Amino acid sequence: MQNIETIKQPALDYPVQPLIASRWSPRAYDSRLVETEKLQRIFEAARWTASSNNLQPWYFLVGFKGDEVYQKIFNTLVEFNQLWAINAPVLVLATGKLTNAKGETNHARAYDLGQAVATLSIQATHEGLFIHQMGGFDAVLAAESLGIPTDYQVQVVFTLGYRTDAEILHPNLQKLESSPRARRPAAESVFTGSFGHPADFL
Ligand SMILES: Cc1cc2nc3c(=O)[nH]c(=O)nc-3n(C[C@H](O)[C@H](O)[C@H](O)COP(=O)(O)O)c2cc1C
Repeated sequence: MQNIETIKQPALDYPVQPLIASRWSPRAYDSRLVETEKLQRIFEAARWTASSNNLQPWYFLVGFKGDEVYQKIFNTLVEFNQLWAINAPVLVLATGKLTNAKGETNHARAYDLGQAVATLSIQATHEGLFIHQMGGFDAVLAAESLGIPTDYQVQVVFTLGYRTDAEILHPNLQKLESSPRARRPAAESVFTGSFGHPADFL
């Protein structure tokens, strides 16, 4: 049987930077703790993300397995996500500040926050770690139970940790863990000439 790293290697149409190719979202996490220096570097990476008006609307609440924050984040997850996220040593809640200093709406908050998570995911990959983002959670309960101020939008939750064998997962999840990654061709998303016309360089 092929090993999981090989299965998860994307079928690239054009070569990309290896860290981009080797990022994926696992569900089988090892209990191994994440080193402090790695956490520092991962959130430092997020810090240097581009941001509209440099507002840096991203804010993260980090829970470590066994602490109250972790448990409260975990309690907000839908059952499917609880099934696998329970093994992750770190759970992170990512929020975007809704307003700027003048109290005006920051329309770029979700865009900037998403970029920050994407950036930290690449640093995590470099550190031998993996994140798995989740939209399957109760954002209202998260805000209430974790005391997130009302001008912050709870956007996403993600696991962070080292990967382990798929065998630790529920049998239904093992298949997902070992299935190849798929994407539509770039020519279906990238256009030249007119919208919808596949880019002629692809
Ligand atoms: C905003 C967002 C929400 C997601 N929500 C969930 C989720 O609730 N549960 C889950 O198992 N995966 C979730 N995912 C993971 C995606 O399913 C995964 O990124 C996608 O299938 C592509 O796989 P890859 O990251 O391994 O390339 C989410 C990803 C993102 C970006």
